[in-house]
Amino acid sequence: MPEKFKRYTLTSALPYANGPIHIGHLAGVYVPADIYARYLRMKGEDVLFIGGSDEHGVPITIKARAEGVSPQVIVDRYHEQIKKSFEDFGISFDVYARTSAPVHHKTASDFFLKLYGENKFIEKTNQQYYDEKEHQFLADRYITGTCPHCGYEKAYGDQCENCGTSLSPLELINPKSALSGNVPVLKETKHWYLPLDQYEEWLEEWIIKGHKNDWKANVYGQVKSWIDHGLKPRAVTRDLNWGVQVPLKDAEGKVLYVWFDAPIGYISAAKEWSEKTGKDWKPYWKDEETKLIHFIGKDNIVFHCIIFPAMLKAEGSFVLPDNVPANEFLNLENDKISTSRNWAVWLHEYLNDFPGKQDVLRYVLTANAPETKDNDFTWKDFQARNNNELLAIFGNFVNRTLVLTQKYFDGVVPAVTELDKEAKTTLEEVKLFPGKIAQSLDRYRFREALSELMNLARLGNKYLTDMEPWRVIKTDEDKVKTILNVSLQIAANLAVLSEPFLPFTATKLQKMLGMEQPTWTDAGNTELIKPGSILNKPELLFDRIEDKEVEAQVQRLLDTKKENELAISSKLAKEEITFDEFMKTDIRTGTILEAKKVPKTKKLLKLKIDTGIDQRTVVSGIAEYYEPEKIIGQKVCILVNLAPRKLRGIESQGMILMAEDADGKLCFVSPTEDVSDGSEVK
Ligand code: 2FM
Ligand code: ZN
Repeated sequence: MPEKFKRYTLTSALPYANGPIHIGHLAGVYVPADIYARYLRMKGEDVLFIGGSDEHGVPITIKARAEGVSPQVIVDRYHEQIKKSFEDFGISFDVYARTSAPVHHKTASDFFLKLYGENKFIEKTNQQYYDEKEHQFLADRYITGTCPHCGYEKAYGDQCENCGTSLSPLELINPKSALSGNVPVLKETKHWYLPLDQYEEWLEEWIIKGHKNDWKANVYGQVKSWIDHGLKPRAVTRDLNWGVQVPLKDAEGKVLYVWFDAPIGYISAAKEWSEKTGKDWKPYWKDEETKLIHFIGKDNIVFHCIIFPAMLKAEGSFVLPDNVPANEFLNLENDKISTSRNWAVWLHEYLNDFPGKQDVLRYVLTANAPETKDNDFTWKDFQARNNNELLAIFGNFVNRTLVLTQKYFDGVVPAVTELDKEAKTTLEEVKLFPGKIAQSLDRYRFREALSELMNLARLGNKYLTDMEPWRVIKTDEDKVKTILNVSLQIAANLAVLSEPFLPFTATKLQKMLGMEQPTWTDAGNTELIKPGSILNKPELLFDRIEDKEVEAQVQRLLDTKKENELAISSKLAKEEITFDEFMKTDIRTGTILEAKKVPKTKKLLKLKIDTGIDQRTVVSGIAEYYEPEKIIGQKVCILVNLAPRKLRGIESQGMILMAEDADGKLCFVSPTEDVSDGSEVK
């Protein structure tokens, strides 16, 4: 690859159009991608920044079913909402496309056909789960069951959200149809597979050897582990009626797998952009001098680092990603962000509740970005970062500088009278910041870059505080001219360097300083503001965020928590069963004799239980709540006539009864009085 690239194609994960955008999406993907795009544009680079809605996939059809509308109604609703909230938030996409667009269907279809024509797929007929009541094959999220790796009972047919393992429906224990709740049957069906195993050697060379040093450790580590475990052929088609039709004669009722079509959506988006602007899209995807970068969250790593590159390689005419700077996850108030539990800060609601404060959220999400590990967003931290950093450091420095220039010189920029030692060293230091910030941004270290920007504001604040122009003015007006000139140059540098991070603030500040739209080369110039030029009226860049504002947000979350708890407790009981059916269960009281963690699992304990009838092994998913050594002797209730099943290679011979609250927290259900082991629970 050449050292200097001619252009940049930046993609940001296409969000599913089945719900609004929340702060987790923003921190993981869109804020860093936008900072990077803005930075490159300021440097005069040729950038195509791509976004769009992912409008296929099972979750969308499930939502449509639940609402009794067509999937198109769902995607139309959310596509518009998401697009607007991104715009209002200042995410500077060059195009915001959608995968239900005809241009995308054609692009994805042609891509498939090219690979098909060149025999790049394997055709396989095998047995898959089928819901006889609904007359439908159960792909991906249409099927749920117990994860064979961690014992989580609500794992999906494509992934266990508890342990993150990617699954196939046949691996699930006790599979159930998500449509009817029925136990599915197996039925034959034909599909096309991308033989990822054939790309293993190439991936090894390209990523494991080629990107060891420039890809983030979290990304590289995940990819390496996938490759080390050995890759298997992946089906790229599904039996569904929502998606891009498989363009073959014998493929009725089959569509492309959403993860096959969605990344091709980046290419279709470039075509859409090309139609609108008249510019040629091809170099942005096909020229070797294009740097392709995918901004994604960690759950998308395998698709962007293994599967999509293998697809591109198989197709042969596209460039491969130069980097995939994936982020980890952001939590909210110490809990996983969850759309279904409404545990999130939704972008459209934030924009409504905090008008004009886009940059505050951009700042907080960058300062606290989950770049190397999961991080937590709290409203208290949001308030503190606004009041103690943006307002007290950045805003305060700019405001003092501008107000004093108005007061002493009627808003006319004073000239330096004598460049004293302090002025000189301060200005020398200012010149170092663009380099430091650029170095961090070039390595996708957005937190570090932002903290350097704040250090520049700190430098300005310290200079002003040390020089005390409000005191010096009484004796030496000339010196104050130098002090304020230097301060204004720092403010001007802030107005340039903050643009990628805080675009609304940067524009406001540039206007107050009477600056033209700056470029990155203006940064580090300590004569950006010309003596004699007239400043505009100063306005405050940031307002204090009051306790009551964040308390209202916290209260909203507490209310959500209560609602969820209520929903769980008032949820209708499961399907009715007869007395005879209930009598089939044999539940006994027992005692835990031994407990050990199952190696390499987060949740599982291997227990030895005295059931009063015998002593037996039970594997139970309670390790997150109980230390093995503390539960020896614990009285339990155990279902003893459950068919044995294997978890992580251990045969589990029964099930301990546990109560689970709305947060998924577990606790033992055990006799409150002393009864002997083996007593029947009725
Ligand atoms: O995880 C998601 O939200 C997916 N919709 C991301 C797709 S990224 C790309 F492939 F389009
Ligand atoms: Zn699992």
